Amino acid sequence: MNSGPDPKVLEQLVGKVVGDVAGAMGVFMAYLGDQAGVYHALDEAGPSTVEELASKTGLNPKYLHEWLGANAAAGYVTYDGVNERFSLSQEQALVFTREGQPACMQGFFQAIVAQYETHAKAVKTFQSGKGRPWSQQSKCCFCSTDRFFRPGYAANLVENWIPALDGVDAKLKSGAKIADIGCGHGSSSILLAQAYPKSKVYAFDFHEPSIIEARQKAKAAGVKNVRFAVARAQDFPGKDFDLACIFDALHDMGDPVGAARHIRESLGPKGTFMLVEPLAGDSMSENLHPLGQIFYAFSTVICTPASLAQEVGLGLGAQAGQKRLTAVLNQAGFSHVRRAAETPTNMVLEVKS
Ligand SMILES: C[S@@+](CC[C@H](N)C(=O)[O-])C[C@H]1O[C@@H](n2cnc3c(N)ncnc32)[C@H](O)[C@@H]1O
Repeated sequence: MNSGPDPKVLEQLVGKVVGDVAGAMGVFMAYLGDQAGVYHALDEAGPSTVEELASKTGLNPKYLHEWLGANAAAGYVTYDGVNERFSLSQEQALVFTREGQPACMQGFFQAIVAQYETHAKAVKTFQSGKGRPWSQQSKCCFCSTDRFFRPGYAANLVENWIPALDGVDAKLKSGAKIADIGCGHGSSSILLAQAYPKSKVYAFDFHEPSIIEARQKAKAAGVKNVRFAVARAQDFPGKDFDLACIFDALHDMGDPVGAARHIRESLGPKGTFMLVEPLAGDSMSENLHPLGQIFYAFSTVICTPASLAQEVGLGLGAQAGQKRLTAVLNQAGFSHVRRAAETPTNMVLEVKS
């Protein structure tokens, strides 16, 4: 006999969902605070009343009162109820204001808000089963992708990932030819160019607005040894690269086997392919945790539709795992695949013929 839903299990599930809804609104409030400069103002001012913060920011105290309440309830700002003052602890300041630090989550928040911005397209794509080109994401999606990934690259690429590849650091120091494929706004390309001034970085992406943005960033940074070009991963120009890299983009490609094959053909005889992909286990059961949930969700609305919109449309997904990635690389003719490094969010594979 079916005894109906278990009240305890139901209560737990409802409690979890209420927490998630609070989290979703928390993310949106964090985005508002970022865009309106409230966290920065509070960080600068120190413990402040609503009125003090309103006069510092020029924002309406009525709105600020509600926003601060939501943030204090979320634990995003600290509230001293006796003196009716709000402040940011060092940790809160790090997470909400310190742009470029790995602990700063604003890129994450922006990436989620960008998905809500184009929710109608996401529903249509999901129902149709058809692809949705990368170019049909919102502009906020492109800059948030860069904002989200850049701190991880800044912290790890030169310090940990390159040195973990056999013999690559020495080559790049003495002057080598690097390809960065699917470079987006070019943060990884610029970091490589800055760290290895004797090397030359050729960075490619098929999305022209991203290449325009990347060129502007390189110019602003005064970096001369990087060139950006609009090109597809499966037929970008150039030969004899010492290092080819793909950062968090292979699974977005329609034809990852074709892209990897073209990379193999474009590398010099002793060249290395560094593949950076989201960290994932080989089975879905291994990925059922908050980070896996986030990657699967982004993959539902960004990565898989971007892949399905292209030729072949393999749709690897953002949680492919090393085994599946190795199969793709083997199919492209690479025989050596080694996990050279990993972070809580990424795996770094050293790939050779
Ligand atoms: C998630 S973004 C990562 C961008 C950048 N590597 C980063 O880490 O910030 C994926 C990128 O892959 C690019 N992309 C997807 N398919 C491509 C293809 N077939 N050829 C070239 N670029 C492609 C997209 O335009 C996008 O910039």
